[in-house]
Amino acid sequence: MSGERRSTWQACPRCGGEVEISHPASACPDCGGLLDVEHRRPDPSGSELRELFAARRGGSGLDASGVWRFRELVLPEADSDVVTYPEGNTPLLVREPVARWAGIGELVLKHEGQNPTGSFKDRGMTVGITQARRRGARAVACASTGNTSASLAAYAALAGIPALVLVPRGQVAAGKLAQTLAYGAKTLLVRGDFDECFALARDASEKLNVYLLNSVNPFRIEGQKTIVLEMLEQLGWVPPDWIALPAGNLGNTSAFGKALREAREAGLISRLPRIAAVQAEGANPFARSYREGFERRYTIKAETTATAIRIGDPASHDRAVSAIRATDGVVIDVTDDEILEAKAVVDASGAGCEPASAASVAGARKLAGQGLIRKGERVVAVLTGHILKDPGILLRYHQEADPPPPRANRPIEIEPDLSAVEGVLRSSKT
Ligand code: F0G
Repeated sequence: MSGERRSTWQACPRCGGEVEISHPASACPDCGGLLDVEHRRPDPSGSELRELFAARRGGSGLDASGVWRFRELVLPEADSDVVTYPEGNTPLLVREPVARWAGIGELVLKHEGQNPTGSFKDRGMTVGITQARRRGARAVACASTGNTSASLAAYAALAGIPALVLVPRGQVAAGKLAQTLAYGAKTLLVRGDFDECFALARDASEKLNVYLLNSVNPFRIEGQKTIVLEMLEQLGWVPPDWIALPAGNLGNTSAFGKALREAREAGLISRLPRIAAVQAEGANPFARSYREGFERRYTIKAETTATAIRIGDPASHDRAVSAIRATDGVVIDVTDDEILEAKAVVDASGAGCEPASAASVAGARKLAGQGLIRKGERVVAVLTGHILKDPGILLRYHQEADPPPPRANRPIEIEPDLSAVEGVLRSSKT
């Protein structure tokens, strides 16, 4: 790396090389490994840092954001270039029926669906688009199963930068596609799956000079770390025993591992929770690899109704392996039926989430059933996306599926008279 080291730089965990923060590509120029953003350890540490973060809560400008409130650990130099909605500041929810169903007394839900575009992607995108602006990018691009594209489209609009998205045709939930179009991204419906979209987006970004904002982009990871930082803060910096999250392309699993490592290095916490990464059974290359001690990396043809995580060749495999190893974590898979049942329970509790999000709750239940999550352990399950992201699956589950699934809430068609309403009330227990 030339010149004097700044407060932030990029490093390759594979070969140990370092490059300037302005280096445009996501991969190491020497060995091709994915780059990480690294920061000089902030001057304040431990309790001072905790106080600084707390004092900013409810503030204005950068402090209004649940990402930039933690800027010492995100991108300390950004300042006037920051593009923020603002985002983050999502709640931790206690929902008794969900905890009971999962068999975990101490289960809380971190609801990332309450971000501005309805998913956790906004936390990474505010940092990614900020970096795009700092670099003077002429356009930004991503491949997506729908949430990244919705977020990219919104933040690119906010920054006034043209956006290009590549999505698998027919495989994106209605809410996400609608958002992407409405926020104004140039949207390509690719006749292929997510993995093909991603390969194409990578190629296009290299050859056509557009800035790639998939989660291989290390600035996205920096923003997504704040899911964990904010959660720890909400828990009074007393870490839970487990953090469960859905896993697809593995950017978020990597971000969680990095956040926990850095939080410990900065003296914010003194022990690490275990990460439980949960995949859909039909899209489980990481779970397969975990079962073999990560000796092999799998690439599969993915299939699941949880379209957000319908990914067969996760780009951040290597750094997610580090996250699981560093936290004594586990990787499991759950069936689509288990995901849909978990979703029905989360929805009926009033919290609500999209299908992929419910994998975290289904996975936590499975781990408790296996005795791996022990009685009395505290678990945070991350709900990654909003209930309205995928209205199609809700209507199929509740209104159309025949026979109705166990928790279907069938609507009842009636004639417009009072006796019909009365009849319904009498025949139901309510
Ligand atoms: N949950 C939701 C709602 C998602 O949209 C995604 C990923 C994940 C979980 C998994 O996160 O990929 O970091 O392991 N969605 C990406 C997208 C792929 O294009 O929106 P991951």
